[in-house]
Amino acid sequence: MVIAPSVLSIDFNKFKEQLELVNQSKATWIHFDVMDGHFVPNLTFGPDILKAVKRSSDLFLDVHLMVKDPRRFIKMFVEAGAHQITFHLEAMEHENDAIKLIKYIHEMGCKVGISIKPNTPIESIDLFVEHVDLILIMSVEPGFGGQSFMMDATKRIAYTKKKIIESNRDVLIQVDGGINDKTIKYVKEAGVDVVVAGSYIFNNDILKAIESLC
Ligand code: DX5
Ligand code: ZN
Repeated sequence: MVIAPSVLSIDFNKFKEQLELVNQSKATWIHFDVMDGHFVPNLTFGPDILKAVKRSSDLFLDVHLMVKDPRRFIKMFVEAGAHQITFHLEAMEHENDAIKLIKYIHEMGCKVGISIKPNTPIESIDLFVEHVDLILIMSVEPGFGGQSFMMDATKRIAYTKKKIIESNRDVLIQVDGGINDKTIKYVKEAGVDVVVAGSYIFNNDILKAIESLC
């Protein structure tokens, strides 16, 4: 199980200290939430903060774009050090645009994920299993940390797992939102590969919290 702490919940007064604890922990990824105030009703951080994270950590940098026009942001986050960029299918006008964007991000030398919100039909991932490295199933409505886990995500993870097995491709399933020591068991049972956790990790003892998710 890959653990990806979300720096959306980091205490910026203790940025370096808390990142150092994450580096010492069993987490192998860092999840970086980018919000533009349009796609979601919140505004977070840009490539300069990602560069600061990269200067303080060798972990895999997993960028989650919750923005209206993802293509505009790819180059700046690749140059800032992203290892993977995930964008939302709902931000794309046509499926073909999403396919072209996946190709573009791969050509930039970066891994690609596609994400869907809780109310988007799960079947809409079918087309993308052939093209992406990761599928992100949101277990909260994107936009804020500290929300409650939506149980329906477990069915959506199981559906995605079945599609990936049928495709015979090496695609990871990630879940994001409301993950803690209680909800972790539901997503593990459903077959998830990567779990994001923000408030549960950074509002508690960071090392113990991450350990409890493993
Ligand atoms: C929400 C973000 C999540 C969020 C998770 O839109 O995509 O990554 O930071 O935070 P918690 O774990 O507190 O729900
Ligand atoms: Zn996220």
